[in-house]
Parts: sequence; C-alpha cells; structure tokens
Amino acid sequence: MAMRVRKAVFPAAGLGTRFLPATKAQPKEMLPIVDKPIIQYGVEEALAAGCDQIIIVTGRGKSAIEDHFDVSYELEKMLEERKKTDLLTIVRQISDMIHVAYVRQKEAMGLGHAVLMARELVGNEPFAVLLADDVIDANPPCLKQMIDQFNQTQSSIIATQQVDGPAISSYGVIDATPVKGNDRLFEVSNMVEKPRLAEAPSNLAIIGRYILTPTIFDVLDKTPLGTGGELQLTDAMRLLLKQEKIFGYRYEGRRHDAGDKLGFLKATVEFALKRPELNPEFRDYLKSLDL
Ligand code: UTP
Repeated sequence: MAMRVRKAVFPAAGLGTRFLPATKAQPKEMLPIVDKPIIQYGVEEALAAGCDQIIIVTGRGKSAIEDHFDVSYELEKMLEERKKTDLLTIVRQISDMIHVAYVRQKEAMGLGHAVLMARELVGNEPFAVLLADDVIDANPPCLKQMIDQFNQTQSSIIATQQVDGPAISSYGVIDATPVKGNDRLFEVSNMVEKPRLAEAPSNLAIIGRYILTPTIFDVLDKTPLGTGGELQLTDAMRLLLKQEKIFGYRYEGRRHDAGDKLGFLKATVEFALKRPELNPEFRDYLKSLDL
C-alpha cells in the first residue's frame, strides 16, 4: 500500500543565538513576521499540505509555543465582552487549527538529534520536517509540492533551491542527477555540508523542508556525532543513501531565511506589503525614505 505523509515535525529547540537578546527567554520560532509567529506560517503550510498531526520539538521557552497553539480562555472572554469579533476569530483559528504534540530535546545536540526525539510520536511512517525559520511563500505551498512528489516516488525528498556564486558555501549541497521528464526532481548521490564554491557538487542548496522515511530513525541512532559535536541530519541522510533512494526537489516559490537578521527584515517588509490593510501606507513610507 502506498505510504502517506500525515505527520509534520518542527524542530524548535535550537538556541537561536543569532537573535539574542530577543531569544533569551523565548524561542526564535515565536518571533513575529508582521503579526504572526514564524512557526505559525510553517504550521499553516503543513496543514495546507494535508498533514493533520503536528509535532513540535521544543527546548527552552517551550511554554510560549504551547500557549500559542492552546486555547486562551481569558483572552477569548475579554475579546467577547468587548465585542472584538474579528480578533476573536483570529485567536480561535489558532487553537482550533489542530492538535499539537510536544516533545522535549533536553540539550541542543543538533538537528539530527532533535528529529530523533520525535521517533516515538512519528512511529513507522514517512513524515515531514519543517524548519520554521525558512518561511516559504509559495502556491501551492512548498510542502504540498513535495508531498505530491513523494506520492509518486515513495522515497525521502529534500527541498532544494538554486544558489549561485559563493553564497552556496552557507548551505548543504546535493550531488545529483536530473530525473527524466521532471525538471524539478533530482536523484541524490551525495551531500556536502558548506562546501567551498570550487568544491560544490552542484548549485542546489538544501533548505528547511524534508520528507523522510522512518528508516532515518535507525540511521540517526547509529550516526556518529559530527561538526560541533552535534548529531547532524545531513550526516544521517548521507548514510541513508546507502539503503534507500533520496530525491532533491527544486521547489517553486520564494523563501525567506527568517533565522537570519537580514532575511527576517526582508521577510517582514515583503509580507507587510502583501497585506492589503498595510500596503498603501507602508509602501508610501518606504518610498519616502531617503536612502
Ligand atoms: P539553526 O542552525 O538555525 O540553529 O537550527 P539555531 O540554534 O536555531 O539558531 P542560531 O544559529 O543559534 O541562531 C536549525 C533548526 O534546527 C533546530 C532549530 O530550532 C532550527 O529550527 N534545532 C537545532 C533543534 O531543534 N535542536 C538543535 O539541537 C539544533
């Protein structure tokens, strides 16, 4: 029987050092772009892609994420009394969204380790991993595009993006051959973490969306600690390649690296301009700046 992707894992236990002091007491996943925490963009993407179970791997500041997706009786009561129905709808939509399960990563021991923490909740089925700080503006949503591919290949899929020039050295990069008849799909033969431009095997950079078969858990269990003494997901995927096919998928859409200050600022500007209630005045304001 064909496997279906129903579960989406959000590793959110990183230290978020690039956003200190904002991330001293709250996870970076709670930083808002306009008025929505970045993790909510990801959760909405997973739901739109057909996932109905959300698993969040948390570390410090766990309560902020839990409270966000939980019912807030006091707030709802207050909005009701004040007849703020629009705001009430927005607040209720979040808690009505889905059931979210949480698992704790006690120590930030790397992305691979965070994924491994979700093993029991995921079980023996394929699942998605979304790094919330990659906020992707796409229609259909990036994860939906990937699940459509997975439904054909039934193999693990990594989202990739074309990155030209020296910027490629900030990413994991795939070595891959194009799949005939699908100009967005590549069969992966290897992966290299942060290569120098001259050594990059392609210009296809790995970004924060994955679909993985449950075999990855056994592999992660046996993967030695890598760079920085952390359990790296890329190292495990490289080992997975010895057992199963992995595909790279060049998604269609626009990605913002909201885990980086400049990327976060750009995302804020672009998402604000997309909001009809903000656009005219914000646009005028940006144009008025003497740059
Ligand atoms: P990053 O590489 O962006 O690290 O993690 P970070 O700690 O969050 O942020 P900086 O670099 O210190 O500013 C990529 C993703 O993996 C998660 C993070 O929460 C983020 O979503 N992660 C990373 C974990 O859940 N656990 C870890 O041990 C490491």
